[in-house]
Amino acid sequence: MEKKTVRVGIVGAGFAATFHFESLKKVCGVDVDVRGVFATDAKQAAEYAKARGIKCCGSLEELIEEAEVVHVCTPPVAHEPIAIAALKRDRFAIVEKPLTGYFGDGSEDFSGDTFAKSDALEHSLSSIERMLTAESKSKGRILYAENWVYAPAIQKEREIIEKTGSQILWIHGEEAHSGSHAATYAYWKFSGGGVMIGKGCHPLTAALYLKGVEGNVRDGKPIRPKAVSARTHALTRLENFRDEGHIRCDYHDIDDFSLMHVVFEDGTIADIFASDIILGGIHNWLEVAANNHRSICNINPNTAMQTYNPVEVNFKDIYVVEKTGTKQGWSSPSPDEDWFTGYPQEMEAFYGSIAYGGAVESDSRLAADAISTIYSAYVSAEQAGAEVAVKTFSSN
Ligand SMILES: NC(=O)c1ccc[n+]([C@@H]2O[C@H](COP(=O)([O-])OP(=O)(O)OC[C@H]3O[C@@H](n4cnc5c(N)ncnc54)[C@H](O)[C@@H]3O)[C@@H](O)[C@H]2O)c1
Repeated sequence: MEKKTVRVGIVGAGFAATFHFESLKKVCGVDVDVRGVFATDAKQAAEYAKARGIKCCGSLEELIEEAEVVHVCTPPVAHEPIAIAALKRDRFAIVEKPLTGYFGDGSEDFSGDTFAKSDALEHSLSSIERMLTAESKSKGRILYAENWVYAPAIQKEREIIEKTGSQILWIHGEEAHSGSHAATYAYWKFSGGGVMIGKGCHPLTAALYLKGVEGNVRDGKPIRPKAVSARTHALTRLENFRDEGHIRCDYHDIDDFSLMHVVFEDGTIADIFASDIILGGIHNWLEVAANNHRSICNINPNTAMQTYNPVEVNFKDIYVVEKTGTKQGWSSPSPDEDWFTGYPQEMEAFYGSIAYGGAVESDSRLAADAISTIYSAYVSAEQAGAEVAVKTFSSN
């Protein structure tokens, strides 16, 4: 089959736009032609474009005109309008996590600490509906950039479930580190919440995905979330928090610790931790307790490599692993962190689907279930953990 060429535009020029570009360079089934970038930070966009030899577009419209696929690598508050603008022009939209959310009422004094979380649930469900409607009317599609779905450990677990017909009884998992780098992350009005959405979406979506796989194998339909109980805390905003400089602690109105207890429609469960208070490097793992096996998927760190370095400065030019506080002593350097994280596999799958057709594992239905579960969880956390029903959306 002749390789197709696909024209690409990237919105945003920060952290996610950088790793998207790196993954695009590794796509081999399709010739990817990155045409340009657009970001509201014009200086950052110009530098991004210059470094990669691509066009710096002056507007979103100009970028969409150039591209068949639009990568949405902006803070969550801008995901919905950009994705819908792309879909309306029959473009594909690769949307970073979280798909969408609730970003306040636009008022100057909006605070994530005080508003009624039922508003967030209602508005985020409406946002999902608008995005799904735009997708259903478009020749393009939403491809949800949830890399955990494509992480090799999660895909190996999918194979085990598919080939052995497992029943998953309990999933537990976590994404945690010592604090996100993005300045906007500290504000609910840009991020749509705190760590429960910002990091919790990763292990949660992997859990929803695997229960989906289980259901598809057995009955031809995914097992969906039914209810959730949750707790959130703002530990670094406690008056008695003692800052020793290791943990980011300038959050404005968001949670930095969360736990979601999800009950699926078959009565089985998942417990998802997320936090911004964990030292020692990023901590991303998912454990599956099934009726016929047990797996621990160590996304990061893992033991692909373990190194002892007696002198910190010797490793000054060596990247070890995300968010590590020190490179001295024992560490688990990731020989190819992006690969273990699922970034290149995600892009390969998306571009294969865009160019040659076929469904993707991480689609808008999975993304919608994750967002719906998370905002139901915020309602639960407001009530100190009372169980809240999760609304699910039918597929397009
Ligand atoms: N999958 C992952 O592992 C992962 C990791 C980090 C971030 N993310 C996600 O990626 C997204 C971006 O996060 P980031 O860390 O790259 O943020 P960032 O702050 O590093 O970069 C954001 C970029 O978006 C641009 N921008 C902001 N609003 C815009 C708008 N309305 N239109 C066009 N450009 C706009 C900014 O100018 C900036 O260039 C977020 O949704 C975040 O959750 C995903």
